[in-house]
Amino acid sequence: MPAHHYQLFDPLLSVADAERMVQLCERFGAYGMYSQEASESDIGEGLAQRHDAVMNYIKRGGRRAQDEPLAVLAARTNYFRESYAYGDEILIDGIEPFQRHAGFVEAARAVHGRPVIVPAIVYANILLPGQELAVHTDVPEFRGANRKKFPQWLMVAMHHSGLFDAWRMPIVTGVSWFSACAGGEFIFYPDGADGAPALLPAKCNTAILLDTDSVFHGVERVGVDAELAPLRPGMRLVCDGGGRWSVRDGDAIVAAYAWDELRFSVSWKAYCFTDEAEHRAWREHTDDLALDAILDRLVADLQSRGRLGDARPAPTDLALQIIDEYIKFPA
Ligand SMILES: [Fe+2]
Repeated sequence: MPAHHYQLFDPLLSVADAERMVQLCERFGAYGMYSQEASESDIGEGLAQRHDAVMNYIKRGGRRAQDEPLAVLAARTNYFRESYAYGDEILIDGIEPFQRHAGFVEAARAVHGRPVIVPAIVYANILLPGQELAVHTDVPEFRGANRKKFPQWLMVAMHHSGLFDAWRMPIVTGVSWFSACAGGEFIFYPDGADGAPALLPAKCNTAILLDTDSVFHGVERVGVDAELAPLRPGMRLVCDGGGRWSVRDGDAIVAAYAWDELRFSVSWKAYCFTDEAEHRAWREHTDDLALDAILDRLVADLQSRGRLGDARPAPTDLALQIIDEYIKFPA
């Protein structure tokens, strides 16, 4: 038994519905880049939102431990993303059956043992040849603490610390694939960061559902020795029709691809509540955490571990210490 429950789907959809997902992706038309915006919070000012994952990735020189310039490493992981549904908001017609997928809902109940499943977001990730995804855990959510309010690394560290479990809103993620690229395997650590990794091919019309906030995961490089396009933040990936795509810098074409070179996945995230009362407390903010309480608790824990003296370090130093102490990446 793995430490973390997960479920595989093969196939996920009927052949016709899987083809509809590809058509939907084309119909959406254009995809922006998922850049790392800097954090503007008082705590850890100037750190990247995912300072934890970025630093770990750079320290290792990417998934293949190569000595590459920082700009190349950044381009490797700066993939294309757009949302198809957000809460009750449908951002493209035809995503509804996927958003309500009964198999995902049932598997979601099993992951956390929580019966009330509320779909939160459906989004597409598209990776180009030469791109990959650093090993990380996703940004979790707590009552009163989410990515809109606080830096993302802080919530990741809060979850790994285990100190805020009573406020955590468990989330599950279903990751599904609808393309036929070489490489781009999904790597994950079902037995925890100290356990062996498992590799899942990104096979068309298959999926995995798991707690990606707790299970470290990433994406192996897409393509076979593929050259990476000279990507810069702000570029867009555009469907040109006829199974062709291009990366655009404004109107200029930077690189062009056929469908079978791209890695197209669709992720489904849902909140898992114990009951309606818990769902209500989350919705109505009756039991929210505040930033001061979060930091006080982390500082007290660092002191009890002998990592901190009585004096509290400057905010950015404290942020780095929190990341270093609580987020233990796979070796
Ligand atoms: Fe992730």
